[in-house]
Amino acid sequence: MVMTKSNFACLLLLLFFCSACSDDPSRSVQHSKNIYPDQQSEGFKQFAKQCSSCHRPPMPNIHTAQQWMSTVNRMLRHREKRALPKMTDIEKQQVLAYLQNHAQQDVQP
Ligand code: HEC
Repeated sequence: MVMTKSNFACLLLLLFFCSACSDDPSRSVQHSKNIYPDQQSEGFKQFAKQCSSCHRPPMPNIHTAQQWMSTVNRMLRHREKRALPKMTDIEKQQVLAYLQNHAQQDVQP
């Protein structure tokens, strides 16, 4: 298909609106005042890439480090069910490290 000028403008407009309504974490109802920590890190980039296909990436502080382990493993199974490419071990470690570094602190017994 040939990209005409108006086609292209339309696409830009569409992209603009899409990003305005879905990618802005500040619009999240549950965490309206929160923004993701450490957004410059490789871990964050990997997390944003791996955890946004099916739902908004969660705030790391909704779970403890230990809970993230099982949650991420469950997400790997969701990926399989949807026939999404597997995360490599390195990608999984990066995502998990990011989540665990910023996880909710364990409650002392
Ligand atoms: C293939 C689709 C898919 C991807 C990719 C995905 N998720 Fe999920 N996620 C789901 C589904 C479906 C649910 C609801 C069912 C459930 O909780 O298992 C969910 C629910 C959740 C929940 C809420 C339930 C809970 O335990 O708090 C969290 C948090 C979560 N995902 C985190 C993640 C993280 C972190 C990643 C990246 C590693 C990720 N998800 C990637 C499909 C996905």
